[in-house]
Amino acid sequence: MITGSTKLYAIVADPIAQVKTPEVLNSYFAKQNMDAVLVPVHVDVNGLAAVFTAFRSMKNLGGVIVTVPHKTVAAQLCDDLGPAGRAIGSVNVIRRMPDGSLLGDTFDGAGFVSGLCRQGHDPKGKRALLVGSGGAAGAIAFSLAQAGVASLTIANRTRAKAQDIVDRVAAVFPQVTLLVGAADPTGHDLVINATSLGMQASDPLPLDVSRLTPGMVVAEIIMKPEQTPLLLAAQDKGCFVHYGKHMLEQQVNLIAQFMLDTD
Ligand SMILES: NC(=O)c1ccc[n+]([C@@H]2O[C@H](COP(=O)([O-])OP(=O)(O)OC[C@H]3O[C@@H](n4cnc5c(N)ncnc54)[C@H](OP(=O)(O)O)[C@@H]3O)[C@@H](O)[C@H]2O)c1
Repeated sequence: MITGSTKLYAIVADPIAQVKTPEVLNSYFAKQNMDAVLVPVHVDVNGLAAVFTAFRSMKNLGGVIVTVPHKTVAAQLCDDLGPAGRAIGSVNVIRRMPDGSLLGDTFDGAGFVSGLCRQGHDPKGKRALLVGSGGAAGAIAFSLAQAGVASLTIANRTRAKAQDIVDRVAAVFPQVTLLVGAADPTGHDLVINATSLGMQASDPLPLDVSRLTPGMVVAEIIMKPEQTPLLLAAQDKGCFVHYGKHMLEQQVNLIAQFMLDTD
């Protein structure tokens, strides 16, 4: 039941009809017996600044989830950023502070690392290969460095984007060996596909699977299909496989904690 005292949360996206967050978070609110509701807000890039101005004035607004295509522009519109959001220049969640200011951060990377750890694959001390340099990959690179990987190689079709992530992460974690390299798993313990390759049946493989060896952990962040051609190839080679759903499962908790300011 929505009442006059219900706390308001929103998700901004364009398009919006495909988002699943309203179902997930409204059922979370119900389970926690919270007087809160999350609603979709369909806004395009041109309207985002005006909507953020309105958010600052909305005293019963708790927070906002940010998704495609707004993650980078939203980071620029926030009044303050958490460490991952600042380093990567991207946010996927915002908390409205009591003074009306907007604090943004990203939990793509923290969700991924938390999912890995919960499946028994702590990345600490591991040599990681990350393929892809989009929004999700940047956040994952930050969180892998934060989690203490020994080294991180980033490979991407557009090499300049991989270099940009290396530079941003190196500025915060100078102790981690970071390099731009090829999508070749040789010499790595943890191999991650953070490209969108694998969503379509016709996609090429994101990396050279002939170089996978038994015992490597091969992780996807793609959720559909759950079993991608990369994971099937990795299983054949005797690797541990890690599914995209684990990242999302952990992100929901982290985002809710940040937006609701609970722990
Ligand atoms: N599990 C989760 O919770 C979760 C969370 C966020 C995202 N995701 C998934 O992660 C994937 C990436 O999301 P994103 O937001 O990072 O996307 P994005 O910013 O659009 O980045 C896409 C990445 O894929 C690469 N790529 C796309 N087509 C390619 C091709 N034909 N050949 C080689 N590389 C190609 C891009 O390379 P270029 O830089 O060269 O274009 C870029 O590195 C999506 O499948 C998304 O659904 C999952």
